[in-house]
Amino acid sequence: MQTTSTPDGCHFHKLSDLSARITPKTEASTLIIRGFLLKIIRYKRVSSTSTNAKALAQKGAAEWTVVVSEAQTQGKGRPGRTWNSPKGGLWFSLIIRPKIPIDRIPLLQFWAANALRKGIEKVYGVQSEVKWPNDIVVDWKKLAGILIETKISGQELVYAIVGIGFNVNLTTEQLPTGATSIFLARKKRFSLEKTLSSILTVLEWDYETLGDESAVVGDWWKHCAHREKSVIIETSNGRVHGKSVGVNLDGSIIVQTDQGSVTVPDGSLRLDT
Ligand code: BTN
Repeated sequence: MQTTSTPDGCHFHKLSDLSARITPKTEASTLIIRGFLLKIIRYKRVSSTSTNAKALAQKGAAEWTVVVSEAQTQGKGRPGRTWNSPKGGLWFSLIIRPKIPIDRIPLLQFWAANALRKGIEKVYGVQSEVKWPNDIVVDWKKLAGILIETKISGQELVYAIVGIGFNVNLTTEQLPTGATSIFLARKKRFSLEKTLSSILTVLEWDYETLGDESAVVGDWWKHCAHREKSVIIETSNGRVHGKSVGVNLDGSIIVQTDQGSVTVPDGSLRLDT
């Protein structure tokens, strides 16, 4: 499969190369965290775990149902991007149904990033940082990405699919430019199974922090790779250049420019070196 990447380490592959077939479900198992039952559905290969999880959620699947696959043929990244997902990485999607107001949905992004960062430190002893809007980085190289997709009905959040792509055992040849893996950081391979249960455990432990939005955003900002640093953000309306000084509860970033403070809702951020 041909893979290209953007300067911020996001992955693209050519749609014409996506010829792999979807294989049937291999197995399902359960994981118990704090007496709480999680159902894990495993595949060898699917187009996207998030697409599968969404179909399950539509049919009423319980919260904390997880879809994981050894490889994805059409892994989804942030809108308009695909996600390179060969065997060796951890690709999974979690169904949650949090009771939060719809204007607080962006908090899920911060919550998931916080949990992932903490899980990575706990399991591997690797210090990573968060990067706006949805990345986990080590030395500015992308280690993991998060994709939150939601279904809203009226003013209610019906479900959210938390898709996590984590480059655990990927080699340099498998990684796009600008990306890294635990294998590269620690020079050895790790169990994807144990990684999954550890990350799910932190996500579950931290779930209740969603009720404390300033703590969630505060923790994210404290471990942000570009806190108070000079950045360039490419947006659909042009380039924003300035110091990154904070993030808002709606998920936007605040940049102090020469013209004053600017709030940027979406874009690709890089350090201004
Ligand atoms: C990004 O950084 O652009 C987000 C990447 C999210 C990738 C994960 S892999 C598991 C889940 N299934 C998908 O198709 N995408 C997410």
